[in-house]
Amino acid sequence: MLLDSFGRVATDLRVSLTDRCNLRCTYCMPPEGLDWLPKPELLTADEIVRLVSIGVERLGITEVRYTGGEPLLRRELVDIVGRTTALHPRPQVSLTTNGIGLARLAAPLAEAGLDRVNVSLDTLDAEVFVRLAHRDRLPDVLEGLSAAAGAGLVPVKINSVLMRGINEHEAAPLLRFSLERGYELRFIEQMPLDAQHGWRRENMITADEILERLSAHFDLVADDPVERGSAPAELFLVDGGPARVGVIGSVTRPFCGACDRVRLTADGQIRNCLFATEESDLRTAMRSGATDEELAERWTAAVRRKRPGHGIDDPTFLQPARPMSAIGG
Ligand code: 5AD
Ligand code: SF4
Repeated sequence: MLLDSFGRVATDLRVSLTDRCNLRCTYCMPPEGLDWLPKPELLTADEIVRLVSIGVERLGITEVRYTGGEPLLRRELVDIVGRTTALHPRPQVSLTTNGIGLARLAAPLAEAGLDRVNVSLDTLDAEVFVRLAHRDRLPDVLEGLSAAAGAGLVPVKINSVLMRGINEHEAAPLLRFSLERGYELRFIEQMPLDAQHGWRRENMITADEILERLSAHFDLVADDPVERGSAPAELFLVDGGPARVGVIGSVTRPFCGACDRVRLTADGQIRNCLFATEESDLRTAMRSGATDEELAERWTAAVRRKRPGHGIDDPTFLQPARPMSAIGG
């Protein structure tokens, strides 16, 4: 079991398959991109499956989420998903993607056993999309969303980040869009994880503001909090339900006390938190011949060192050296 010193148990593994992306969302990376990880440092598909198997078979991981960067850019993705859903006990397997390429890949992924997708969509306006993501790809994302629903990767979830002066007026339109199509929408507060270190608290649209904006157009009632469990979204029934909307107050309403996550970066480092300042290098250990047993031990030790929370509000808070695209969302 992956137990930390505060009694939390990590059962949800997020695996970044690549740090590359075909978008340049401002809350994540600069328009010119980043210095991508050199290929030899990336885990191979076999290495990823080996580590995920150790997590599932020895360490109690029950949920595996593939992320990036953009995971659809990884050629072996369908193979990796297929080998993950074949594990015993079979974990839940999902994908966090920007949706570009999903039109082509949704069906093969569903066939490989993928359970669900989370698609990032911050705007319904093609011009705003270009300002926000520096690429003109909104139609690809929308096609990807319908393909996911068509392939049965349901419920299709949407993640939206609102930014002041850019897309803050789109809270209600995004919810209307999602309700009409049966997608489950979650708003996420912008976190200090961008490579440019441009995050400013005063530019963050807070959970309170999101709820205020939505409440002007919809009747929102907090859903049974018992159901929230370790899921970070606070859920609200919309206009009497059953449709719901989620608000993830990562910064203003932290949920670290109930965190059940652990992360594996594309270059094989275990991170016990998005905001961790230390990583544990499983890649080097694995390539130097470590046994499954030894890798499991290192992993367990890395989780034991997990801190109680992200401390964004502490005066001593340090933004992690690596951006979201390298850590895995
Ligand atoms: N703050 C909040 N959410 C972010 N994401 C990426 N960077 C940030 C950030 N700085 C979101 C993406 C995606 C998920 C992986 O996290 O939009 O939906
Ligand atoms: Fe968990 Fe770290 Fe996220 Fe807090 S910040 S919820 S401890 S991963």
